[in-house]
Amino acid sequence: MNEKSCLVTGAASGIGKATVLVLARSGARVTAADINGPGLGKLRTELAAEGIGITVVTGDVADPRANRAMVDAAVEAYGRLDVAVANAGVLPLSDVNETSPEDWDHVMAVDGRGAFLTCKYAIEAMTAQERPGGALVCVSSVSGVARQARQAAYGPAKFVASGLTKHLAVEWAARGIRVNAVAPGTIRTERVLALKDEPGGPAYLAEVSAAHPMGRLGEPEEVARVIAFLASDAASFVTGAIVPVDGGYLAR
Ligand SMILES: NC(=O)c1ccc[n+]([C@@H]2O[C@H](COP(=O)([O-])OP(=O)(O)OC[C@H]3O[C@@H](n4cnc5c(N)ncnc54)[C@H](O)[C@@H]3O)[C@@H](O)[C@H]2O)c1
Repeated sequence: MNEKSCLVTGAASGIGKATVLVLARSGARVTAADINGPGLGKLRTELAAEGIGITVVTGDVADPRANRAMVDAAVEAYGRLDVAVANAGVLPLSDVNETSPEDWDHVMAVDGRGAFLTCKYAIEAMTAQERPGGALVCVSSVSGVARQARQAAYGPAKFVASGLTKHLAVEWAARGIRVNAVAPGTIRTERVLALKDEPGGPAYLAEVSAAHPMGRLGEPEEVARVIAFLASDAASFVTGAIVPVDGGYLAR
């Protein structure tokens, strides 16, 4: 990634962590942000053992001040911001009867508002810098494109990520900022592996595994590699795209 300054939110585990590893190992200057400070510390140590330094910021993406501080940390550390990956999210499994108004607000605050704030502050930084421009990648989901069972609040929150991608892509295309998204199928992250211990989780996992035509769940790095491509100059004419990384799930 040619020393590009890249911010990744939700970087302490799963897809976000895999994205930091792919970007950092390909030469990017990475700022990793998450609400989980110890998890960020572990990631920094892991990369330090390979001789790679990263910047870490602890905070809640739903909080405007904390979210802005993540962008500011990247600019402060590396002089500019080239890439922002709006990945932080919570993934509750619940149908509409199981979802309280408070549950709705929480998912929308993290996955919806959090993604909006990361895009907003990243665009502010990217337009203010000496060589304006950059690339945003939102982490949506197959549930942000099509229906899935028991995702009454999460699915609509991922439609926010898809919607932000399309609207902001058009809004900023002429000013050198590309905005794309990935729509992962079910990926073997810490969060998804924990579902097996939740009510209805094993049945849900069996059902979704079978629903992926490739007959397996995805790996975090398989999503990270597509994020890195969309963030890179190799995708210079790609904007407003929501790219499935789903083993064929959406093609059915
Ligand atoms: N795993 C999947 O199957 C899957 C599928 C489609 C989309 N996604 C999306 O991928 C993204 C990452 O999910 P994952 O499966 O890697 O989950 P994960 O739980 O393994 O990682 C999510 C990370 O986000 C962090 N986070 C949560 N709330 C936060 C907050 N308020 N502020 C800052 N950081 C916060 C967590 O601490 C964690 O490190 C999410 O946006 C999720 O919706 C995941």
